[in-house]
Amino acid sequence: MEHRTSRQHVVDMCRTMLERGYLKATEGNVSVRVPSHDCYAVTPSNYDYDRMRAEDVSLVGFDGKPLPGSGAGLPPSIECGMHANIYRERPDVNAIVHTHQPYASALAFLRKEIPALTDEQVRFLGRKVAIIPYAPSGTSFLAGKVQKKVASGDNAFIIANHGIIALGTDPDRAVFNMALLEKVSLAYLLALTTEAGKIYTIPDAIREVAFSKLRKDEKRIAAQITAAVEPVRVPPTEELPSVTDAPVAALPAEAVPAPTKAVPAPTEAVPATAEADPAASASDGPDADGLLAAAADLASAGGDDPAASPSAEAAAPVTAKTSADDVPQPIGAESAALGYAISTYPDVDDTMRRLKALVAQPIRGLRHDALHDVLNYFETKCRASKEITDRAKTRIPGGVQHNLAFNYPFPLAIEKAEGAYLTDRDGNTYIDFLQAGGPTLLGSNYGPVNERVAEVIKRSGPVTGLFHEYELKLAEIINRYMPHIEMYRALGSGTEAVMAAVRGARAFTGKNVVIKVGGAYHGWSDTMVYGLRVPGTFRMNAKGIPFGATGSTREAFPHDLGLLKRKLIENRLRGGTAAVIVEPVGPESGTRPVPKDYNAKVRELCDEFGALLIFDEVVTGFRLGLGGAAGYFGVTPDLTVLGKAVSGGYPMAGGVGGRADVMAVFGSGLDGKNGAHVQVGGTLSANPLSCAAGYFAIEEMARTNAPVLAGRAGDRLTRGLQRLVDKYGLPYVVYNQGSIVHLECSGVLLLDMRHPVKLLKENKPRKRLMEQMSAAYAAHGIITLAGARMYTSMADTDEVIDDALARFDQVFALVEGV
Ligand SMILES: Cc1ncc(COP(=O)(O)O)c(C=O)c1O
Repeated sequence: MEHRTSRQHVVDMCRTMLERGYLKATEGNVSVRVPSHDCYAVTPSNYDYDRMRAEDVSLVGFDGKPLPGSGAGLPPSIECGMHANIYRERPDVNAIVHTHQPYASALAFLRKEIPALTDEQVRFLGRKVAIIPYAPSGTSFLAGKVQKKVASGDNAFIIANHGIIALGTDPDRAVFNMALLEKVSLAYLLALTTEAGKIYTIPDAIREVAFSKLRKDEKRIAAQITAAVEPVRVPPTEELPSVTDAPVAALPAEAVPAPTKAVPAPTEAVPATAEADPAASASDGPDADGLLAAAADLASAGGDDPAASPSAEAAAPVTAKTSADDVPQPIGAESAALGYAISTYPDVDDTMRRLKALVAQPIRGLRHDALHDVLNYFETKCRASKEITDRAKTRIPGGVQHNLAFNYPFPLAIEKAEGAYLTDRDGNTYIDFLQAGGPTLLGSNYGPVNERVAEVIKRSGPVTGLFHEYELKLAEIINRYMPHIEMYRALGSGTEAVMAAVRGARAFTGKNVVIKVGGAYHGWSDTMVYGLRVPGTFRMNAKGIPFGATGSTREAFPHDLGLLKRKLIENRLRGGTAAVIVEPVGPESGTRPVPKDYNAKVRELCDEFGALLIFDEVVTGFRLGLGGAAGYFGVTPDLTVLGKAVSGGYPMAGGVGGRADVMAVFGSGLDGKNGAHVQVGGTLSANPLSCAAGYFAIEEMARTNAPVLAGRAGDRLTRGLQRLVDKYGLPYVVYNQGSIVHLECSGVLLLDMRHPVKLLKENKPRKRLMEQMSAAYAAHGIITLAGARMYTSMADTDEVIDDALARFDQVFALVEGV
């Protein structure tokens, strides 16, 4: 058979596109240039691709005419003149795809080019996607118009009323470009739809094309509902986990605020293997004897005297003495012995299955009358909040400075945060599962830390501008519990610390690209507002951020290690990857929980490709345990970003730490003589107030074993909620990673660009459901993080959790259809 390879390429391309749903029945056409000949292989006219054979593929000359002879396949597509013109015009093009993609086609109605939405688009498709004006198919008019446009050098075009064409240097690239164009079209269509009135009003015709596809989807979804997963069963007789089950550090009993069980006196030293597999020991519950031994050492090592500080020992490179009988312990054993907040790691496959089932179903929200009552609560019981937050709208953009809790129907003005509770301006009290977004692991406004911080302020003032002892003490105590943080640079916030980590990684490796996991939140710096919250959205939230700023940021899909590896390979050809940054429990604090071995595998990939591994432990640092996620998972990152709990709820909550050789890049003073000159800083960074607060808070966490206590409170809350979800037959998904509790009623963050139709259609209603549930919880005395996440703290006794469960019970009873 003549030119078998090129013809086989056509068959393979069609097969790939059929499998991925991009090509259907007989629509579209595909061609591949025959190397060193003035001809190309193209799909036959009106041909059913399902039964494609290489010998059927037509051979056509650059004059647009079929090659003569019996071996030249079936009669070619009527668009072969268009293909011929492209090959003549563009010697760099070796493959062409012409398909009828609905979204790109829909955009043709706008007669507007798609602007550069993503870096990937610019690189592979061109700065814009032009619209080729209409001409009847198969005519030389159309072929001429196409030729004129492709001369621009771009690789993707939308043809009015005829779908799209995508060009590539090889068959794979052409298919890739076609898929990319469809993705970009959808993103643009989504932007247009969600920002109606701001950019354009969508013409009816476009909506019709898009929404007829949506209707088809709806039918598919309806079919899926019948295949919903069985609920998690929590028998009524099952005793819920209790914070009293958690081992506590060996302390004077009266100093421990949370209820405790009597614990036997320490008998044994921490087993030397305590650090070898901290994750394993954590998931099975910490070894009580070992814990007590370490805790006894902790108690004796505590105190405020720098000379007596354990940090002197922590500076030793390999081991530290932590037991009274001088048995050498591996550094970090203290954290391992104290245990971790996660008692059982969630079954990720099962959780993801449940989350997928949740998003496959129609939303289940409040009954209309119940929503009315909820809104009535706000109107009648929260008048002072309404009055002041209305006023705020004129002086504060959007009326609020914080947006962690939903502000529906209006924001609550909080007067006091104390322990497990919030009190608003109208005097209403709420159980506080927001905990300021995570920093107050000891509970809000924690007296023992406040008093000691007050002493430091009295003595030193809140800021000195020069070195202060507590800067060192904070770095030392972090190193004691997180030994992989050999050096620590205190900064102003998690956002700043991520910026520093990325800059440091780039400076250290001399490489530019940073890969994050789609959907993860790493603060709001220019580089990191990319693939935010919804995986696959690239720059969708990057308004106000120039392209250059995200030019070296890449996004890997959650859980997809294969894709991460592909990105690392791609980057290798373009100068290499400086770092991979992950939230170790999964994007958005475990909203898509990662399998337990995920971080270890990312570590392996980083090692293979010479990239640094950055753990963003802004949420997990201390919350998962004093050793953080690194200690829990037993994976050592090169750099760690801390925030939130690192200053115990006081300001300036952020810092970056890690390997001494990497951290040395931040060594420079203003003179630039010390270490590399990587600019980080801040007038108030590392002020005595925040450093002392961090130091005392960490000491208190170790003294009280707050992370584990908060984790057990999270377990109780989770199990209780699972029982309620089952009781009311709701599709909601509840799981926890210690004190990070997820209550997904809408699954909005599980939508992604791999299912763009669904995203387009369901993003808003699912978000609205979260707002309404959040308001309903508040009206019943519970504050959550955006209606979907809860942080427990040491202040959450069993009584607090049981009270919360009774309130959730009331809310779930209001859901439609229960
Ligand atoms: C994982 C993660 N990284 C970074 C940040 C940003 O920290 P900050 O709000 O202190 O700037 C956050 C904030 O919530 C976070 O959750």
